[in-house]
Amino acid sequence: MPFKLPIKVYLNEDEIPRQWYNLAADLPSPMLPPLGPDGKPLTPEALSAVFPMNLIEQEVSQERWITIPEEIIEMLYRWRPSPLKRAVYLEQALGTPAKIYYKDESVSPAGSHKPNTAIPQVWYNKKFGTKTITTETGAGQWGSALAFSCSLMGLACKIFMVRISFEQKPFRKIMMQTWGGKCIASPSTETEAGRSFLKKDPNTPGSLGMAISEAVEAAVTDKSGTTKYSLGSVLNHVLLHQTIIGLEAKKQLQKIGIKKPDVVIACAGGGSNFGGLAFPFVADKIAGANIEIIPVEPASCPTMTRGIFTYDFGDSAGMTPLLPMHTLGHNFVPEPIHAGGLRYHGMAPLVSQTIVEGLATPRAIQQTECFKAAILWANTEGMIIAPESSHAVAATIQEALKAKEEGKEKVILFNLSGHGHMDLAGYSKFLEGKLTDWELPQANIEAAEQDLKDLPKAKMNKTGKW
Ligand SMILES: Cc1ncc(COP(=O)(O)O)c(C=O)c1O
Repeated sequence: MPFKLPIKVYLNEDEIPRQWYNLAADLPSPMLPPLGPDGKPLTPEALSAVFPMNLIEQEVSQERWITIPEEIIEMLYRWRPSPLKRAVYLEQALGTPAKIYYKDESVSPAGSHKPNTAIPQVWYNKKFGTKTITTETGAGQWGSALAFSCSLMGLACKIFMVRISFEQKPFRKIMMQTWGGKCIASPSTETEAGRSFLKKDPNTPGSLGMAISEAVEAAVTDKSGTTKYSLGSVLNHVLLHQTIIGLEAKKQLQKIGIKKPDVVIACAGGGSNFGGLAFPFVADKIAGANIEIIPVEPASCPTMTRGIFTYDFGDSAGMTPLLPMHTLGHNFVPEPIHAGGLRYHGMAPLVSQTIVEGLATPRAIQQTECFKAAILWANTEGMIIAPESSHAVAATIQEALKAKEEGKEKVILFNLSGHGHMDLAGYSKFLEGKLTDWELPQANIEAAEQDLKDLPKAKMNKTGKW
């Protein structure tokens, strides 16, 4: 049967969204605040040791729309607007009546959605007078994106990379170095936190939680006062910057006469590409639209589907504020699965609250099903995708097959968060039959409950919600 065109939907540069969307303005219940070590709500000033004030203002903003400075848009033109594509070849292979559309975020210079927030974060830091930015990176995507953005604006960049990924992905380190970044395996001996993690376990594979502790410490102990820390996911301002994905997708679907998708899917590690694609559609759902919204995580790191919704630290050493989120406990060290960017114990508070409010329904999938989906994708659509993104593709395939069973012509929209050109070691292991599935034992959840029992609870707020 001939294809019904178009397969690719582009926007002109002058159609790029001029404002980011802030879901906090529309959530049915107000967001719970971050708490300090004393259990009291943090003031913006208390965050200023770590972040510049202009980004803290975005972090706590209740404004629905926040204007994107023109200078940022001019930098984003390098790859934005990103294409919306229809996965017709996959649809044919599955024999599904569903129409599968995806935002292709792999087209950015660093190969993922991460520069959508790296560029604004570096821009606001530069305006504030920051000279050096520290950060952590899991799979290396965020570190590359920040190094790239710092190189555009002349800031120094120091990246603590989770040791297991540092070893699995040497080319990511070279990308960071090419853009002038300094990349260090974490835990390292450079920080107090790193030394203490190594003392506990000299062979630890590392985790995002540990690397965050190191990067925060490196920023707050710098004597010049011009070093700040930057986070690639989890926080409100990061998800805000990523909403450019969903806002573009809406315009692109409208261009081809689709009023709304029936299902929206993205993988979620800290929640930024999911929030970026989904939040503009969550707004429609709050306004009454019937849309199923699915964040997808690995079954071996089931933060959203089996974690506890409570206050927890964002890092392993307890240096960050306490955030209200789904968590497996800040001491949780995930299995060294190949989707490094999804190995995080917590979740963005905005995503957690979306789940608690019943606006999104999370799903956990095992890594071999995800790699199978990635192989099918490569052999139909062509691209070799990031193992993180394969979680979104696996859930999309599940939904497309369900639509086939039900005989429904559903519109599925998902986010292809990145390419997998630096992830071939994972593909190789899968192809050699060396990758296995792993279900988190219930004992780990009980251990998390123990770790969390003395921390404040995320209590029902004044509106009587949850
Ligand atoms: C390609 C890709 N997708 C997804 C993620 C998960 O992060 P987030 O949940 O913040 O989008 C990462 C994180 O490194 C990534 O590199």
